[in-house]
Amino acid sequence: MKSRWINESCMFLHFVATIISLLSVPRMLQAMDILNPVQVLKDGDTLVSSGGDFVLGFFSPGNSKNRFVGIWYNKIKVQTVVWVANRETPLTNNASGMFKITETGFLAVIDESNRVVWSSNSSKTVQNPVAQLLDTGNLVVKESNNPNPENFIWQSFEHPTDHLLPGMKLGWNFVTRREVYLSAWKSYDDPSTGDYTLHCDPSGYPQLTIKKGEALQLRSGAWNGEGFSGVPNVRKNTIYSFEVVVNKDEIYYHYELLNHLVVSRYMLNESGVGQRWTWVDERQGWVIYLTSPTDSCDAYGFCGVHGSCNIVNSPLCGCLDRFVPKDPIGWERTDWSKGCVRRTPLNCSKGDAFLKYSGLKLPDTRGSWFNSSINLEDCGALCLKNCSCMAYASLDISKGGSGCLLWFGELVDIRMVPHPQGEDIYIRVASSETDSKGMKRILVVILALVGGMILLGLSLMLYLKKMRKSDHLVGRFFSSSNQKDECHDRELGMPMFDLNSLIKATDNFSIHNKIGEGGFGPVYKGLLEGGKEIAVKCLSQTSHQGVDEFKNEVSCIAKLQHRNLVRLLGCCSQGVENMLVYEYMTNKSLDLILFDPMKSSVLDWPKRFHIINGIARGLSYLHQDSRLTIIHRDVKASNILLDSDMNPKISDFGIARCFGGDETAAKTRRVIGTYGYMSPEYAIDGLFSVKSDVFSFGVLALEIVKGMSNRGFTHTDHSLNLLGHAWTLHKEGRSLELVDPCLAEPFNFCELLRTIHVSLLCVQQNPKDRPSMSTVVMMLSGEDVFPSPKQPGFFTEREVLAAQSSARTSATISANGVTITLLEAR
Ligand SMILES: *[C@@H]1O[C@H](CO)[C@@H](O)[C@H](O)[C@H]1NC(C)=O
Ligand SMILES: *[C@@H]1O[C@H](CO)[C@@H](O)[C@H](O)[C@H]1NC(C)=O
Repeated sequence: MKSRWINESCMFLHFVATIISLLSVPRMLQAMDILNPVQVLKDGDTLVSSGGDFVLGFFSPGNSKNRFVGIWYNKIKVQTVVWVANRETPLTNNASGMFKITETGFLAVIDESNRVVWSSNSSKTVQNPVAQLLDTGNLVVKESNNPNPENFIWQSFEHPTDHLLPGMKLGWNFVTRREVYLSAWKSYDDPSTGDYTLHCDPSGYPQLTIKKGEALQLRSGAWNGEGFSGVPNVRKNTIYSFEVVVNKDEIYYHYELLNHLVVSRYMLNESGVGQRWTWVDERQGWVIYLTSPTDSCDAYGFCGVHGSCNIVNSPLCGCLDRFVPKDPIGWERTDWSKGCVRRTPLNCSKGDAFLKYSGLKLPDTRGSWFNSSINLEDCGALCLKNCSCMAYASLDISKGGSGCLLWFGELVDIRMVPHPQGEDIYIRVASSETDSKGMKRILVVILALVGGMILLGLSLMLYLKKMRKSDHLVGRFFSSSNQKDECHDRELGMPMFDLNSLIKATDNFSIHNKIGEGGFGPVYKGLLEGGKEIAVKCLSQTSHQGVDEFKNEVSCIAKLQHRNLVRLLGCCSQGVENMLVYEYMTNKSLDLILFDPMKSSVLDWPKRFHIINGIARGLSYLHQDSRLTIIHRDVKASNILLDSDMNPKISDFGIARCFGGDETAAKTRRVIGTYGYMSPEYAIDGLFSVKSDVFSFGVLALEIVKGMSNRGFTHTDHSLNLLGHAWTLHKEGRSLELVDPCLAEPFNFCELLRTIHVSLLCVQQNPKDRPSMSTVVMMLSGEDVFPSPKQPGFFTEREVLAAQSSARTSATISANGVTITLLEAR
């Protein structure tokens, strides 16, 4: 009885104690910003900074169930965590963790079985350590009655996670040899260290850098006293001030809020994007004030060494003035990785000179040298004296320019930055680039440019009239001066033909040997001394756009080999003469036979089916089997050549586009191709991809079945074009009526129906619905289950015309099937 009473009173006391602990302890802690070694912060308890701005407690990020100790804004309802203690070591057992400070001044996160999962360590110790959450969001460990920041023995501001808060120093302390840098979270749910880090890089003149692992992704450009040369949008503003402090003990970046009513924070997000957020109000929440990178030009070294990125240009990369691409063909193909080299090599012993380049993000300053007390003039003299000094610039532009910054080695990661933020740099060039002879040369170049422009204008008019094909206006001047080098390029390993031997082979380019007019000039038949027949394609000297196409053709197909592609045997480049030498195709082009009622019976169904298959295989090779992805863009009957055995060979790569890597689609403002073969998305919107070639292939295959060209097709009953006609017949199960009447029976009905079906799949309106060329090859051989085709694109001729007018083009449309250019399609 007695024992039961004791037991009950014990329970009562325990109950009271629990009530007291539940009510009083948390309330006490809530009001508190200080934790001392006799207290423990349990999951659910919080520390709140004295002004109530920040709170420390346990939280679970995103959809995670794991518990972490962190700091977030107290007055902002959307929990915004700015620091995490145990980011790598979450508490997995729900709500049973604790946070405390030890007698020796270590902070610790402890799990339910009293194991330390995270602890702060510091080398210093104090008598009466306490942890305090300051109103800046800084969690500090200090002697209980010493408020001096100098004497903090540990602070979270020196161990940040992904947030840079006002007052934090991002950078290096050379005394403690410690770096403070940000590292992104792994994901929204997982605060552990992710791939990206943000640093203030002190090697050379300081700049902010974002790295993925060890790889530099982005740099701000060097600090210039006012901002960073590469991030012009980060400048003086009303929200925060910022600077880079450089002294013998420290190099760091920091910012301070100017108006304490505006909350702003900077973070590195999970995908390596630096973001500045400001808080607006409960309704609008956080809004992004700035992000970096802002565009492709921000990607580190995007244009290679000595290249310069300009976001308003297309293509984005160019060489600095007086520099030329190191690998001109790769450069043309938009592979900018090899960068640029000086047009005239340096010769330090003869004395080099410096040229001023303006409006730039200054190149990577890692490895640079600086001195803040040398003026620009002495800086130049200093750089000139040392043959390995490649460029110099002012260090600080804030007071009209002072200090000296020198670069050694190659200049990387330059972009154009509009004035007034862009900076000046003086780059070492050969003295001949600047002396009076150089001036004369510049004058000559200018005159040549003006002349070139006039010529270009004239030829542009001419070419619009003649409706020749072309792309790439940009870089034309370069290409006309560089054309000589195309064939000599060692990389292509292209056999060279001697001009004299070609003159002999073609009987001095006799009119009788002329077999056609290619994309950029006449084509002649020739007979080499050994008896080999060749086709010689000349670049006509008056054709300015031809130069590009010539280069394009060489670079595109030099290395391609496939039995359904016409073989380039070599080229000839002497003086102004540029020629391509191909294997000769006895049966010329497909259109000459197929569309000629007198000759088309030569092509019986097995031959036609063989031709269709060959074209499909050739295209499939171009699209995915060769080293590059090549979009031909002008697949049509006249570009299919036939050898003596009626094997088809795809030719004319003048407007083909080569893509490296995974890129397989592009948009152009200059739509080039041939009506009747162009896919709707290309003709109307300038979008081309492998699927626009698939469309053209489908048209071509139907033409081969019908023996009539899509454009030339008319029917007495309706106004549908060949595609519309074929589709209507297919829907009504009358596909066989499409077949060319001159095809003598018997032929393989299955093959024929399959071919029509596949063709209709190829010409569907939506590019996504069209099969890839490799699928086409399989389908033609009967190895695939076929979906039903949807309505083709460009169903009637009227649609084509409507599309043209809606594209607001300035084109002249030709009816005779030659390749045309539509200018400025949207
Ligand atoms: C990082 O920021 C960029 C730009 O604001 C945004 O597009 C991206 O989705 C962000 N990534 C994550 C994982 O939040
Ligand atoms: C040029 O500068 C580099 C880098 O500061 C230095 O290592 C080298 O000794 C200098 N050369 C001369 C000739 O002063």
